[in-house]
Amino acid sequence: MASLTVRKLDEALKAQLRLRAARHGRSVEDEVRTILREATHEGAPQVRRQEHQRAPEIKSMPTLSSVASSTGFKVTLIIGGGIAAYKALDLIRRLKERDVHVRCVLTRGAQQFVTALSASALAHEHVYTDLFDPKSEFDAGHIRLARDCDMIVVAPATADLMAKMAHGHADDLATAILLASNRPVLLAPAMNPLMWNNPSTRRNLAQLKTDGILVIGPNAGEMAEANEAGIGRMAEPIEIANAAMEILRPAPVGPLVGKRILITAGPTHEPIDPVRYIANRSSGKQGFAIAASAAAAGANVTLVSGPVGLNDPPGVRVIRVEAARDMLRQVEDALPADIAIFAAAVADWRVAREGDQKIKKTSSGMPPLQLVENPDILATISKLKQKRPPLVIGFAAETEHLIDNAMSKLLRKGCDWIVANDVSPSGGVMGGDRNTVHLLMKGKSGGETKIESWPAMMKDDVASALVDRIAREISAAEST
Ligand code: C5P
Repeated sequence: MASLTVRKLDEALKAQLRLRAARHGRSVEDEVRTILREATHEGAPQVRRQEHQRAPEIKSMPTLSSVASSTGFKVTLIIGGGIAAYKALDLIRRLKERDVHVRCVLTRGAQQFVTALSASALAHEHVYTDLFDPKSEFDAGHIRLARDCDMIVVAPATADLMAKMAHGHADDLATAILLASNRPVLLAPAMNPLMWNNPSTRRNLAQLKTDGILVIGPNAGEMAEANEAGIGRMAEPIEIANAAMEILRPAPVGPLVGKRILITAGPTHEPIDPVRYIANRSSGKQGFAIAASAAAAGANVTLVSGPVGLNDPPGVRVIRVEAARDMLRQVEDALPADIAIFAAAVADWRVAREGDQKIKKTSSGMPPLQLVENPDILATISKLKQKRPPLVIGFAAETEHLIDNAMSKLLRKGCDWIVANDVSPSGGVMGGDRNTVHLLMKGKSGGETKIESWPAMMKDDVASALVDRIAREISAAEST
């Protein structure tokens, strides 16, 4: 089968792939695999049928390449034989929470502490224990486990396992995988403090570090052995999972690397009483798409979103809020930022006094709802004396006199750009996937406002185009 090296593709294609991958929450490699798989399915149904006819017995074997994970990251987790092995079960959950596909290998010692059944129930996967298992070794499974993953985590890494690794042993499945791998390896040592401080362990650790093995922990604390404390406790599962993610996530690339972008999205819900609220039809799709595009362009993105039914875009810090005042608070807390984009459809009003209890129907008629104005987040941030982001962008959702209304909003709110869109019900923009926008850019030092009218596009494409526009603006500003 032909192989494809993403690194060698031209930069423009790679940028597009990265964007697509981020949108779908996959790694670039998995995005390429998906595209190729889809193309093969459309173009060559006969070939697929023939493959099935030739090798029906392989279909039932658990192969790594048959596995789809939403981020596309695959980790081989080697669980060593120590009391901390029970924490490795929690580590499986923490990695899976981060959408990582986990394939577990248990050493003989590990099986004294945890069962293959519990690991496989948590990983939703076959668990490997034996180097000479005919079922998984029919095609040198240890080589697959070593290479068809993005990294190997060893937790707990016992003194014995570290010694074997340092000396290149390969007499069981775990050590054979480690010796056969060319992937990053992260060790989470766990052992008694005396073992940790023993000169042999120190030598082995130094050798492993020289060999490029990464190490997290151990931490200081109480030992499982009564009355013993010191350095030797395995790092907490969450620490190991976070360290693994740092290794898995490639260093950001793109035109917005190093830029902090703050984005609001979605509607706000303004409570009337504990069960009712005032809201609007905003789906949050446009703001979420901008956040995904900005993250794919390398920015450090914080998204403050009202209640929406959308998943967090990959690589974006998402803060979920309900009401306008919470949104303003979170936006202020997230400053400073280089760019702020206010795409939320913030409710203009809230009820003056929210009922503590559900308002009941009475014979004396309808309850009066007195409204008061919400803070205008865009205007507040645009007019900040300190901490005003250098580029503040607002949205104008209008149903008539689009450009005129957007122009007066640009001046009134004090922002730098306005993205104006027509949200008349006939256009289907609210809640839909497409958008037609005009970009109004205030001229520098009193210069004329420029207007760009973009053709109708998918919201994802509007997001990419806006992020490109911002990147160009920043690079122009930085080069003057
Ligand atoms: O005034 P209007 O709601 O039409 O203004 C739209 C722009 O102002 C959007 O960018 C929206 O996110 C922002 N806005 C805000 N806070 C409000 C009202 C609007 O940030 N209370």
